[in-house]
Amino acid sequence: APDITSICKDASAGIRNKEDAIRTLKCCPPSLGKTIKPFVFPKERTVRMRWPAHNGTKEQVEKYRAAIQAMRDLPDDHPHSFVSQAKIHCAYCNGGYNQVDSGSGFPDVDIQIHNSWLFFPFHRWYLYFYERILGKLINDPTFALPFWKWDEPAGMPIPEMFVPATIDGKPNPLYDVYRNPNHIQERIVDLDYDGQDKDIPDKTQIDCNLSTVYRDLVRNGADTLSFFGGVYVAGDSPVGNSDPSVGSVESGSHTAVHRWVGDTTQPNGEDMGNFYSAGYDPVFYIHHANVDRMWKLWKELGIPGHVEPTEPDWLNASFVFYDENEDLVRVYNKDSVNLNKLKFNYMENSKEVFPWRKSRP
Ligand code: C2O
Repeated sequence: APDITSICKDASAGIRNKEDAIRTLKCCPPSLGKTIKPFVFPKERTVRMRWPAHNGTKEQVEKYRAAIQAMRDLPDDHPHSFVSQAKIHCAYCNGGYNQVDSGSGFPDVDIQIHNSWLFFPFHRWYLYFYERILGKLINDPTFALPFWKWDEPAGMPIPEMFVPATIDGKPNPLYDVYRNPNHIQERIVDLDYDGQDKDIPDKTQIDCNLSTVYRDLVRNGADTLSFFGGVYVAGDSPVGNSDPSVGSVESGSHTAVHRWVGDTTQPNGEDMGNFYSAGYDPVFYIHHANVDRMWKLWKELGIPGHVEPTEPDWLNASFVFYDENEDLVRVYNKDSVNLNKLKFNYMENSKEVFPWRKSRP
């Protein structure tokens, strides 16, 4: 499995127009000279309940805004800063790291955590630390992220709190200028977006979206590797996202939302339309919270075959993050599976958890 060390280089892979890139290609994490610690499960008793972004209480929304603002107020070179958090995605996805593993390494092969079975666990860990850092910044140990609930009709437009550029005369910390302006206001996301706007009524778009969720979680995600993505182990070159082995959610609704939010008039579809810049849009994290929730729902469907990989190459693959105490910790896929142990979960609608259940395409 890929093993990530402190060797890091500028992002270079997967960026079409490097010259005109809007965000920096220097994506390596700040080095504080720390040694990597092993991960320990959180000891607190409270479970952080992630909430649907379109339906937050005033208090939830205000806390979330305050936390993101606090992150933006940190100096860029702080490991908890908004920019450092955004760069994590760039470093892991655009060739910032090599695959190395003591002695028998692959120093010339980039790490890419997309387009394979590393996709779900990597992003789960990324958000896990991001959420705890935000909570720490506002001193709230119960702080939980919102999620963009695009699998339910009411949650399909981009959540309102992300839209205005200013709030009471001050910049909205959830706003990002590099988004497709045609898609922002009142528009229902297209979970099957391929770069072309469909001229269809909202009701039809909603039905299409429900079918897309069904497609990604049931029809195309019928077994472990179809859902998680193909096997990717040390020495493998990164595959492209048109590779058929990319997981059903990753290649489907996940990528469609990235492309739908990103500004196609920017050189690299910034921000959401390219790995290296996606983390600069706060929408990225609520989108990925819902993608992560798809993993949970996929299991809860209870369909035979809906189980995580059990191969040691998957279980023992690891990543390194700064935690909420600014310590570097190494986390393993095997520890990402059990939400009870990670002390977070998702608020579900008690009446209808799977509104797309009967939307077989
Ligand atoms: Cu790491 Cu949505 O991509």
